[in-house]
Amino acid sequence: MDGEFVLVVGSAVLEISGRTRRRLQPGARQYGHIHASVSGVARNIAENLARLDIETVLLSAIADDDIGQHLITHSTRAGIDCRHMLRVNGAHTATSMLLYEAEDSCTRVDDLSIADSLDSDYLLEHEWLFEKAALIVIDATLSADALETLFELAGLHQVRVCADPTSPLMASRMTPFIANLYLIVPNASETAALCSLDAPATERDSAIGTAQQLVNMGANIAVVTLGEQGLAYADSSGGGYIRAIHTEVVDTSGAGDAFSGAVIFGILNDVPIDEAMRLGVTAASLTLESEDTVLQSLSQELLYDELSA
Ligand SMILES: Nc1ncnc2c1ncn2[C@@H]1O[C@H](COP(=O)(O)OP(=O)(O)OP(=O)(O)O)[C@@H](O)[C@H]1O
Ligand SMILES: [Mg+2]
Repeated sequence: MDGEFVLVVGSAVLEISGRTRRRLQPGARQYGHIHASVSGVARNIAENLARLDIETVLLSAIADDDIGQHLITHSTRAGIDCRHMLRVNGAHTATSMLLYEAEDSCTRVDDLSIADSLDSDYLLEHEWLFEKAALIVIDATLSADALETLFELAGLHQVRVCADPTSPLMASRMTPFIANLYLIVPNASETAALCSLDAPATERDSAIGTAQQLVNMGANIAVVTLGEQGLAYADSSGGGYIRAIHTEVVDTSGAGDAFSGAVIFGILNDVPIDEAMRLGVTAASLTLESEDTVLQSLSQELLYDELSA
């Protein structure tokens, strides 16, 4: 790896998800299963990388509360360097509540207000990390100002930036910076906001077209993930499509982040683009088979064993 570590910048979130045994009825009390997990797109990608033995530094904001401490303890144990995270007094650590209904449709509330604390001044104070980074990974929870500064620092120190557009509501924050990106990985529903499409790219041919459009807009590599249908990808030499692995899904949360983490692992190891995509699909499939948001048993060995199986 050319550089000392991967610098991951964005959200760290406690995610609480609930599943009811019966169909939800507004206003009625329901019994079900509630699960809390350490999450956040940037943090999840960082944890996937750390579990794949990549040195990873996370820049993210947490409050001085118990949830913040829990996120730091879990992430540090997973191997992420959390020493430079921003601690904001008197704020709330980012938290999401997800309520799953029949057929996995999900209603969610995200409290990500602390994300705005991760501002330009904080990034500038950590310029020395940008100087030493092998690669930068970001999510779209960063404010417009923070993104501006981040791309200035990345440009100054000539470090490639990989981005996850995070959600349909946040994806358009990335649009002004597509030409500065080495890798961008939207899911189907994020493509509409990102590329100003009338309808999201939801199947093979439109997804390949959208990936190629993102490359025409200046990204080096673009991937459009399509959930159980797999993904489309493109770079300057062309595009392709890879099917998902048929998987007994236990929990969908974190699959996209596992995908991005493993693709970035492949990029750091200079593997051909189609192999990087297959690493991503394999990591996503392993994650889907587990309730873990980031597979706690993930390792290079497991990933390559599954890839060749
Ligand atoms: N139901 C599924 N069956 C098999 N593979 C899946 C399924 N859902 C997702 N995947 C795999 O995970 C990859 C990423 O999934 P998806 O497109 O859902 O990303 P995402 O919406 O960003 O996910 P997340 O909700 O974790 O952020 C897909 O390209 C596919 O390989
Ligand atoms: Mg995603």
